[in-house]
Amino acid sequence: MNRGRTLIAANWKMHKTSREAKAFFDTWRTFPALDCEIAFLPPFTLLHAVAPLLSGTEVLGGQNLHEAAAGAFTGEISAGMLRDAGCKYVLIGHSERRHVFGEPDERIALKVRAALEGGLRPILCVGETLEQRKNGNTLDIVWGQLAADLGRNPPREGFDIAYEPVWAIGTGKVASHHDAREVHEAVLEYLGKRGGGRDCRILYGGSVKPGNALDLLNSPGIHGLLVGGASLDPGSFHQIAALAKD
Ligand code: PGA
Repeated sequence: MNRGRTLIAANWKMHKTSREAKAFFDTWRTFPALDCEIAFLPPFTLLHAVAPLLSGTEVLGGQNLHEAAAGAFTGEISAGMLRDAGCKYVLIGHSERRHVFGEPDERIALKVRAALEGGLRPILCVGETLEQRKNGNTLDIVWGQLAADLGRNPPREGFDIAYEPVWAIGTGKVASHHDAREVHEAVLEYLGKRGGGRDCRILYGGSVKPGNALDLLNSPGIHGLLVGGASLDPGSFHQIAALAKD
């Protein structure tokens, strides 16, 4: 099964102006080339500023999209607009969208379909809260999200999954590579049983730092990382990405 290259994605969330993005890439360009695919997911306002700064295996992605192609949806942005801005990827169902903005699975499922139809490769985020983990419900929660967001028959290919335990995002607490591996293997098993996601990579996200990235990347069933806070600094993001080998 060909899953392509290891993917290291930088989720910049609501950070950086165009001047700060330019400063990031000025420093980033002084570092050696990398042996993996790098996706930058800046805020929408920076897509056009970042696109011409990318080179080699670096690509662009959006952090969210609306499920409609166009219309009276103030403040929203469509798959076609992201494609037009040069995006290959789009994050869908990030825990901040689910838990801060209250996006339900029904919406997330529509967004996955819109992204695929619009020629984007969704990175669908799934993950349990601390309470759900403590109650031993992690796998049920993740399977439930996969079933609701991808449907009973997941698309055969064209999407990736990021496992991001909610309690690990921005908290400095990282899942052990054993815990991450258990979920990653469960996701692969889920997709395998349903004949979907044949080229799907499973990324881990949640407090990834230079000091914990290697353990995670070495864990079987992990095909990349989704990095938030540590991706804002070119030095720490490069240290993480340099650990990824195809
Ligand atoms: P973090 O964020 O690396 O700052 O924990 C990860 C994410 O939310 O994608």
